[in-house]
Amino acid sequence: MPETSSPVAERTATPGTAIEPRQLRQLLGCFPTGVAVITTTNADGQPVGLTCNSFSSVSLEPPLVLFSLRKASSLVPAFCASDAFAINILSQRQDALSGRFASSKIADKFEGVAWHVGSLGMPVIEDCLASFECRVHACHDAGDHHVFIGEVKHMSEGCADHALVFYKGAYMQLAESLRKQVIEGKLGTADLDEAYRTLYGRLLRLACEHASEAELDMVESAVDAIEAHGPDDSLAQRIESASRFFSAIAVAGHNAALMLMAQTMTGVLRERMTHVIPVRPRPDLFPLRRKVVLRLRQRDPDGAAGALDELITKLRVDRDGGVVANGFGD
Ligand SMILES: Cc1cc2nc3c(=O)[nH]c(=O)nc-3n(C[C@H](O)[C@H](O)[C@H](O)COP(=O)(O)O)c2cc1C
Repeated sequence: MPETSSPVAERTATPGTAIEPRQLRQLLGCFPTGVAVITTTNADGQPVGLTCNSFSSVSLEPPLVLFSLRKASSLVPAFCASDAFAINILSQRQDALSGRFASSKIADKFEGVAWHVGSLGMPVIEDCLASFECRVHACHDAGDHHVFIGEVKHMSEGCADHALVFYKGAYMQLAESLRKQVIEGKLGTADLDEAYRTLYGRLLRLACEHASEAELDMVESAVDAIEAHGPDDSLAQRIESASRFFSAIAVAGHNAALMLMAQTMTGVLRERMTHVIPVRPRPDLFPLRRKVVLRLRQRDPDGAAGALDELITKLRVDRDGGVVANGFGD
């Protein structure tokens, strides 16, 4: 059983300073991290694991490492009851594995995954960059996470590849190659529109099923922000509200994998608005975003996806009927 100790010093935000969780997550995303799958065995002796980027080294002598586990995770009972865990550092080729272990919808995440039982009895995944098997040294309660500190007992070196890097909500290789293609104009507007229609259409349908009213409020408040822009507002502010609209839809969809894709598409949107497309006010688009929100509130999936289609179509067609290259930002 992990030893539980009280935090040495509990830090709280200065009274009166509201740290908004969404922005906190976004700013923390500016710090690139590697990605690991942390594994252990549950009460039935079955392997379990999750994708994790909170892994960090703590001490060389003794050799200590840590990771933090969301208290809401279904894996809390398994990790709290186990006296050991393994850290498997992912290579850039293992992005699919990362997605698999980040999904709460896959019942047996180890199905089809090559792994073996390590020296401490922990599941060690094949073809990782490195694996560390640890005895639990301490488990600290920290806000909405448990922090597990482990003492490394065994380690193994794996393949000599580059690490999978997570940065600003997306895997860096993917994000970087997309960024390059967008700036070089290699991603066509028609292709991108089709991608937005498909991805956000699906997310809107899921949101009609799963979103809380508070999440729909976030979509609506992003629409409010877009409409509130004055002529002197900067491009950065417009980009921010446009991104917020799409991010809020992605959050409301409750699908971790689609959310990652959406984050990457938001990155594309930012790049296009910054480097490729001229952005000018489009008040004629206001009612269409309102329609998306209304259909969401009515839990009407066809209506919501249809309203997004209309928005994207109108976005490309100027009031005179000509096709324009414009952003989603107004
Ligand atoms: C790149 C990435 C990093 C993540 N890092 C953590 C983490 O450090 N701690 C955590 O509890 N969840 C993290 N997650 C989320 C978990 O992987 C995910 O919630 C979990 O595996 C799903 O199962 P659950 O719903 O039972 O928690 C991360 C997800 C991704 C995609």
